[in-house]
Amino acid sequence: MVDRLVIRRPDDWHLHLRDGAVLAAVAPESARHFARAIVMPNLVPPVLTGADARAYRARIEAALPPASGFTPLMTLYLTEQTDPADVVQAHRDGTVTAVKLYPAGATTNSASGVRDIRKVQPVLDAMAEAGLPLCVHGEVTDPEVDIFDREAVFIETVLDPLRARTPGLRVIMEHITTEDAVAYLRQGDETLAATVTTHHLMIDRNHILAGGIRPQYYCLPVAKRARHRDALVELVTRGHPRAFLGTDSAPHVDPLKLQPCGCAGIFSAPVTMACLAQVFDEAGALDRLEAFTSLNGPAFYGLPPSEETLTLVKDGPHPAPERLETGDGPVTVFDPGREILWRVQE
Ligand code: DOR
Ligand code: ZN
Repeated sequence: MVDRLVIRRPDDWHLHLRDGAVLAAVAPESARHFARAIVMPNLVPPVLTGADARAYRARIEAALPPASGFTPLMTLYLTEQTDPADVVQAHRDGTVTAVKLYPAGATTNSASGVRDIRKVQPVLDAMAEAGLPLCVHGEVTDPEVDIFDREAVFIETVLDPLRARTPGLRVIMEHITTEDAVAYLRQGDETLAATVTTHHLMIDRNHILAGGIRPQYYCLPVAKRARHRDALVELVTRGHPRAFLGTDSAPHVDPLKLQPCGCAGIFSAPVTMACLAQVFDEAGALDRLEAFTSLNGPAFYGLPPSEETLTLVKDGPHPAPERLETGDGPVTVFDPGREILWRVQE
């Protein structure tokens, strides 16, 4: 039985760090285990320009413990007003690693997102030309479309046409949740990748809704049927070279989650690596964990893998931390709802 695993230090290819007091509390949690993270730009107001991204990066760096070794990789929030020249310049000078597409109204702080996808075509063309990747929140916002179908409909009606008219654009389907997305990734070429969250590998919609409503499991895209979760687990534990970890760790303080209209987002950064070791161990695939967390992402983004390592140990069960205190209030930590035998050796 394997009870110790040394892997290259993982990266988180989709992370929300927020700002202010929450940033101060959560940044050290990611820096503890991860080498780098793609930092989402959906602040209020959003990270729109290269100058915004540099200022936000400085605030993140100020929130990190000394000599943490953690590198935030910055993104810009795509709007219908985004200037292609600013985006390309921010990429050339090393400020930004990717641009994020939020369909307007799809999720938290997406109001400034894109309503008419054709209006951003000049930016997409410039990104394809410059080799700058697009991170996509892949859900349609049409209120007529059932919330459980929004990802599959997006792939067919928005993503596939977008890729067809923008040859060479590197696209990451963020936080995929369906077997439809898995199938689309599998038939895609080397310009297409997908991130998978920790929670979507561990919960299905019953966790949210059966036996009482559990707002702490509510995120977007919302978790789907068990069949879809199984397809995600199979994708990552059998190994796919363009599927990699993006936790979508998305802290909201408890009062904002536990209200009549609660916020979407699951905060998983502190427990993610232990949870993933558990998932891969249960699938008999511990030898594939490193590719998912530490190799496939850098390969797609054209970056070297981390030279540092992370050690995981199986000596539990370990009680999970329940919440993280922040200056704005407590944030509940993801509860995987099962025994976790693994921990990160610190
Ligand atoms: O659940 C989510 N929370 N999904 C998103 O797309 C955004 C995120 C957030 O920022 O809270
Ligand atoms: Zn996100």
